[in-house]
Amino acid sequence: MISIEEYRRKYAFGEDYGTSEYKFGPVAERPDVIENRGFIIDKSSIVYRIAGITKNIIVGPEVSMYLGSREDMARFLVYPMRDGVIGKDDERAWSVIYEITKYGLLKFKPSDPKFKGFYVTAALSAIAPKYMYEKVFEIHKKIDEEYGVVKAVTIIPQPLAVAIAQKTITCIVVESGHGNTQITPISRYPIRGAIISLNRGGAEANDITAEILKDSGYGDLVHEEKLVRMVKEAIGLIPRNLNEAIKKAREDKDRFRAVFKVPNTPTVIDLGDNSWMRFLIGEIVFDPENEIFESYYKRGMPRPRDTRLGDEIIRGTINLADAIIKSAQKTPLELQPHLYKRIILSGGNFAWKVPELLKDVAVDAATKIKALLKERNIDAIVELTRDPMYSVWKGCIVYSIAVPDDYLWSWRRMEGWYKWR
Ligand SMILES: Nc1ncnc2c1ncn2[C@@H]1O[C@H](COP(=O)(O)OP(=O)(O)OP(=O)(O)O)[C@@H](O)[C@H]1O
Ligand SMILES: [Mg+2]
Repeated sequence: MISIEEYRRKYAFGEDYGTSEYKFGPVAERPDVIENRGFIIDKSSIVYRIAGITKNIIVGPEVSMYLGSREDMARFLVYPMRDGVIGKDDERAWSVIYEITKYGLLKFKPSDPKFKGFYVTAALSAIAPKYMYEKVFEIHKKIDEEYGVVKAVTIIPQPLAVAIAQKTITCIVVESGHGNTQITPISRYPIRGAIISLNRGGAEANDITAEILKDSGYGDLVHEEKLVRMVKEAIGLIPRNLNEAIKKAREDKDRFRAVFKVPNTPTVIDLGDNSWMRFLIGEIVFDPENEIFESYYKRGMPRPRDTRLGDEIIRGTINLADAIIKSAQKTPLELQPHLYKRIILSGGNFAWKVPELLKDVAVDAATKIKALLKERNIDAIVELTRDPMYSVWKGCIVYSIAVPDDYLWSWRRMEGWYKWR
């Protein structure tokens, strides 16, 4: 017989609900990943009946097989989260969340007869309203009633998960995923009134990549979001200093040349004389306000929407360092120096490569933020997590392992295990 605490450690399970991807799984080096989306089966279509397809929603890798025309994709393919949030009454979105959660839990359901369900820690956006917590609890309870796979569940804000994965609870976490960028000062728990959530993330870097591809004669390729994302990740670079990088790249075209071969096709994308533009892709993550981007906004590239912090409106395009400072300023003066000593960056939108040969001009996200803060007279210690895409999930696992079985959920503390059996 193993003790209840040993059982909990064995069956710890983490879930990170991202805007673009759902990361999930038990204790391991890395989580499993599927896209956070579902394909709604149109029951009125006779072909589905003939093919014997009885499901209502398809999730996971199978979705690819169902994709058809662009119109169909717009109608039947549901990405449930927008900037990390789902509307209370958005039934379609919630049923996709139910399906992906079920998919994840059943994928790892062990055959062990002693298995009585996982201890699940789920991570939601730091700005997720209370009803999202209620819905996510409800969904786990329902799945458990149907399949016996959840013994208890708890929910933590994504930035707190990152802090936990880094073994600290006094810090500023900057989490930049596909849909948004959350700046969260933490002192034991996220400081609610200081959280800044910017409506921008990897998606905006995709947008500028698409514009650059159009300008370079590859306009016919930009309708495929997946392809644009691949190009972005392959050629995009963060400049230490944008103007210097552009100057060097124009003088030394061969060294900076951006070439990308599209997998499974004969197509090769070559930016040629436009190769210097690869630095715009990385720069826009940090400073979309730079005037160099104005012409792109003018011709229709979407400008990140503004957000609110208390009574204040924060521009969607605010320089990331200015946003970090604004957020820190909402915390007690005495705490601020401690926060600046530990700024933790996580999320795929900070995972930019730094090619060995371009090290003199291209930098990683931590170096960039540190430099931007320095320009504003702030000496900060900035670190990038080891696996930026997976640190939220890692923190979930650590949390599941750490919270004792008899520590029950409290809506006041927003901590503890939520149970129904
Ligand atoms: N090596 C890379 N270089 C640049 N961008 C990358 C890299 N790897 C991943 N990304 C980008 O990171 C984003 C995905 O990050 P992440 O998985 O953290 O987002 P998410 O959790 O799904 O969304 P969110 O946290 O906004 O809800 C995508 O835009 C992806 O293109
Ligand atoms: Mg995320």
